[in-house]
Amino acid sequence: MAQDPLIRIQSVSFSYSVNQNQIPVLHDVSFHVHRGEYLAIIGHNGSGKSTLAKHFNGILTPHSGDVWVAGMNTRDKHKHREIRQRVGMVFQHPDNQIVATIVQDDVAFGLENTGVPVDEMKKRVDYALDAVGMSAFRKRPPHHLSGGQKQRVAIAGILAMRPECIVLDEATSMLDTFGRKEILSVIRKLHREGMTIVSVTHHMSEVAEADRVLVMEGGRIVLEGSPREVFRQHAQLEELHLEVPQSSRIAMLVHQHYPAFSPDLIRQDEIVEEVDRVLSAKAEVNGA
Ligand SMILES: Nc1ncnc2c1ncn2[C@@H]1O[C@H](COP(=O)(O)OP(=O)(O)O)[C@@H](O)[C@H]1O
Ligand SMILES: [Mg+2]
Repeated sequence: MAQDPLIRIQSVSFSYSVNQNQIPVLHDVSFHVHRGEYLAIIGHNGSGKSTLAKHFNGILTPHSGDVWVAGMNTRDKHKHREIRQRVGMVFQHPDNQIVATIVQDDVAFGLENTGVPVDEMKKRVDYALDAVGMSAFRKRPPHHLSGGQKQRVAIAGILAMRPECIVLDEATSMLDTFGRKEILSVIRKLHREGMTIVSVTHHMSEVAEADRVLVMEGGRIVLEGSPREVFRQHAQLEELHLEVPQSSRIAMLVHQHYPAFSPDLIRQDEIVEEVDRVLSAKAEVNGA
């Protein structure tokens, strides 16, 4: 059914076994990832984000509860190939994800042994490289690329599989500002084209564009809502040691001095528009 959520996480608990001890990490986590949505998952280090993300395509399976991807239970090992084709993951370290010595071979790697005919494989590699703006680099050795370019190649490798969803686990955290912008702009474009995005990050500034945000703490979801709704919870975010994004902080500060200025802004472009609105209103009052 088209309206079914793409991923259903139902009462998931998970523990790691360390020296025969069970270390509980996820506690009764439940939520859905809807088709076409851009979901951000935030929380500070150790809150369980990566452990949760690895449940989205069967890298880990819950100790209790269930994860369903397009109706397939991740416990069913026979479905893992199909689940991983539908839900691709990009990880933190760009270097660890490169397997081939030429960019285009790297992008094609996941397609090998899938039975996709060679002609179709070529088309998919072309499409994927184009989608991430890396076509000009197709014959280059990946180890000469910047971190941002390597992550774009990693995303292309997933796109070649024609997935429904891309999960990024801190995929920008090893990158410089430029590399981060490259990845965010690729993600924005893919989301506009209908791709389901799950972005795991501890950068609050990266979640402003998401449709929905989940905040994790101690293996539980402690806050959920649109970025605006979540950023409004200043006191709670502070308690969780999560910083409010710069635009939100600026809006709140200005509001304290000029109550007419909205405190509820989360993006830079909204700040610019609000300054413009307030100044125009003031000019009108002054008869300018
Ligand atoms: N492979 C592992 N073995 C044992 N403990 C782990 C393992 N991976 C993560 N942990 C522990 O699980 C908790 C959650 O980690 P993780 O899911 O990586 O959180 P996050 O991605 O939010 O930083 C942490 O306390 C971490 O030390
Ligand atoms: Mg992590």
